[in-house]
Amino acid sequence: MSPRVRVGVIGAHGRMGTETCRAVESDGDLELVCGLGREDPLRRLVDAEAAVAVDFTTPAAVKDNARFCLKQGIHVVVGTSGLAPEDLADIERWVRSGVANAIVAPNFAIGAVLMMSFAAQAARHFARAEIVERHHDRKLDAPSGTALATAALMNEARSDPWTEGAPGNETVPGSRGGDARGVRVHSLRLPGSVAHQEVVLGSPGETLVIRHDSLDRSSFMPGVLLAIKRVGSRRGLTVGLEHLLDL
Ligand SMILES: NC(=O)c1ccc[n+]([C@@H]2O[C@H](COP(=O)([O-])OP(=O)(O)OC[C@H]3O[C@@H](n4cnc5c(N)ncnc54)[C@H](OP(=O)(O)O)[C@@H]3O)[C@@H](O)[C@H]2O)c1
Repeated sequence: MSPRVRVGVIGAHGRMGTETCRAVESDGDLELVCGLGREDPLRRLVDAEAAVAVDFTTPAAVKDNARFCLKQGIHVVVGTSGLAPEDLADIERWVRSGVANAIVAPNFAIGAVLMMSFAAQAARHFARAEIVERHHDRKLDAPSGTALATAALMNEARSDPWTEGAPGNETVPGSRGGDARGVRVHSLRLPGSVAHQEVVLGSPGETLVIRHDSLDRSSFMPGVLLAIKRVGSRRGLTVGLEHLLDL
C-alpha cells in the first residue's frame, strides 16, 4: 500500500478551507497534516512535512503562499480566485525553477468544468454570447474566475469575432456588464447564493442557455481531491481542472 499523501490546507478556517479539511480527512489516500489560518506561519507546512498545500484564501494572499510552497518543494493546489495572467506567469516561473508542481483551477466543480467545455463548443456556432454569474455577497473579486475562464475558452474556440450589437446608451452606467473580449459578463452578488453561472448564446431566431449551479460547497470537493492526488505527478503548472478529466 502506498503511503497517504500529506496535505496542508491554507485558509483552513474559511468556508472552502473547512470543507477541504473535512474532505481530506475522509479520504483514505490522504492525511491532513496541518491547517493554517491567517495568523499561522507558512513554515508550519514545512514542519508538518506537507507534500501538497491547498490554498483557499484571498486574492491578496494566494500568490505569496504559492511562492513559499513552491520554493520549499511543496506542490500547490490553488482554488483561490483573482490571479491575473501575470500572476500565473510568475507561478509558472517558480514551478520551472523548482521541483514542485502547481494546479490552479478557477472552479473545482465537475459540472462547472463541463459547462465551460460546452460553452466553448457552442461559441463557434453563435453570433453573440453573454455570461451571467451569481455568487454570495462576501465574494471579493468580480467577475468570478469561472466567468473569466469561460469567456477566455469561448474566445479561443472562435476564429471570427463576435457580431457587434448596436452601441446603445447606458442610462445606468455598467448595465451592459463588463466586456471580456466581446463576451459581456454580469456579476450578481446576493446573500443565499453559492456559485452559479449561465452562459447565454444567441443567433437570429434562437437562444441556447448553458447553466450550472453549485448549491453546496461539497460540489467542489471531488475536483479538489482529484487535484491533490494528481499534482505530484503532473509536472509544471496546470490551469483548469479540465486537463485532469477525460472530457
Ligand atoms: N476554485 C473553486 O472551485 C472555488 C470555489 C469556491 C470559492 N473559491 C475561492 O476560494 C477563495 C476562498 O473562498 P471562501 O469562500 O472559502 O472564503 P472565506 O470563507 O473568506 O475563507 C478565506 C479564509 O482564508 C483566510 N486567510 C486569509 N489570508 C490568509 C493567509 N495569508 N493565510 C492563511 N489564511 C488566510 C481567512 O482568514 P480570516 O477569516 O482571518 O480573514 C479565511 O478564513 C476565494 O477566492 C473564492 O473565490 C474557489
